[in-house]
Amino acid sequence: MKERTIKIVDDANGLSYTLPVENGTIRAMDLRQIKTGPDDFGLMTYDPAFTNTASCRSAITYIDGERGILQYRGYPIETLAEHCTFLEVAYLLIFGELPTQSELNTWVFDITHHTMLHETVKKFMEGFRYNAHPMGMLVSTIAALSTIYPESKNIFDAATRKHQLLRLIGKMPTIAAYTYRHQLGLPYVYPDNDLSYTENFMNMLWKMVEPKYQANSVMARALDILFILHADHEQNCSTNTMRCVGSAQTDPFLSTAAAAAALAGPLHGGANEAVLTMLDEIGSKDKVPAYVKKIKEGHGKLMGFGHRVYKNYDPRAKIIKWTAEQVFEITGRNAKLDIALELERIALQDEYFIQRKLYPNVDFYSGIIYQAMGFKPEMFTVLFAIPRTAGWLAQWQEMITDPEQKISRPRQVYVGENMRQFVPLAERGTAVRR
Ligand SMILES: CC(C)(COP(=O)(O)OP(=O)(O)OC[C@H]1O[C@@H](n2cnc3c(N)ncnc32)[C@H](O)[C@@H]1OP(=O)(O)O)[C@@H](O)C(=O)NCCC(=O)NCCS
Repeated sequence: MKERTIKIVDDANGLSYTLPVENGTIRAMDLRQIKTGPDDFGLMTYDPAFTNTASCRSAITYIDGERGILQYRGYPIETLAEHCTFLEVAYLLIFGELPTQSELNTWVFDITHHTMLHETVKKFMEGFRYNAHPMGMLVSTIAALSTIYPESKNIFDAATRKHQLLRLIGKMPTIAAYTYRHQLGLPYVYPDNDLSYTENFMNMLWKMVEPKYQANSVMARALDILFILHADHEQNCSTNTMRCVGSAQTDPFLSTAAAAAALAGPLHGGANEAVLTMLDEIGSKDKVPAYVKKIKEGHGKLMGFGHRVYKNYDPRAKIIKWTAEQVFEITGRNAKLDIALELERIALQDEYFIQRKLYPNVDFYSGIIYQAMGFKPEMFTVLFAIPRTAGWLAQWQEMITDPEQKISRPRQVYVGENMRQFVPLAERGTAVRR
């Protein structure tokens, strides 16, 4: 088949350039040859917020935003959520294939045996203020792990890389549970190796004086499904941060801390916390129409709605809605669900939302489940960060081993002053307060 090319004609001088098109993209560097003269730097693209720029080739996650499709390594998210455990999916994301039974056993064993935190980490975490936001604690603690495992800098050694990967996936629930108990003033609970990944997380969160924690299996499975849904989402803001920071050959603990910091923002992983605040603000079902009217008039955004990539129903939101029903059978119905359902119903038939293709995203229902499970909104993003660590690490490893990748360093369009004459301090006249 003939290779696709594109011809660009520069109206400044009539010169034409034929550029190859591969996978629906042209290489930005191919534009550099387009110059108006020998002193011209060459043409660049301008793409604030990377709305139309592919920064890497990736074989991990596929999204078709128009059709509402999400696949990890070629498997539909719905199939993985129905048939797999989170650790099985983490293996798939990182190694590219679903594990055999013996591979899975080894993987689960290895992760289970990396759940303990060094005692100094516990002391470090005790130093946080009693009401410290758990995301701040999480980000700082992940970064602090870098001081305990200095060998993690050896990022080009596959065995060392794998070791850090096990540590990060294994320790995330432990750190997350410690941030939770710190706020409540409860003593920290050590991991229990007899339990599954999510059961052990529940043990570290909720164990009181009983000698052995018994996790509710429906809740444990619901958490596992939520973890699968949140495990990766291709080049989102935090993943891009992971790749960007990691491209400087920073160790994986510091890179993961940076990614988690990006996740903390309300436009990213913080959105589910914002959804709950919004539902509280609305207060009751009958106030939904007035709230939607306010949003349409430009007063804020409907949190949990809209997505940079999905211009259709987020497939994860559908699975979460189903999971919510399972959880509510145990915990009782969360009153906020009725407000959320009404909000969804009204928004989905409103011209403003239809025109802009704004549908509920993963954060719309996840917060309601988390609240029913007993988590305060401050914990929601922490719950997102645990599974997303598997995705961050898969993407980081792919970046490290990609010969095309280099330190991430975008260009800019300079719009400041041209070179100016320096004025000494004494001659600068009256101050203008800025
Ligand atoms: C996710 C999000 C950041 C994507 O933003 P984006 O791709 O930059 O989309 P834009 O901000 O360009 O939105 C396009 C239009 O839809 C509107 N819009 C987008 N999300 C909206 C929302 N949640 N509520 C109301 N209007 C919204 C924008 O105001 C804009 O309208 P305009 O064309 O009249 O100016 C954005 O939809 C948002 O802020 N959603 C709420 C936060 C959230 O749920 N985040 C979690 C993402 S998983």
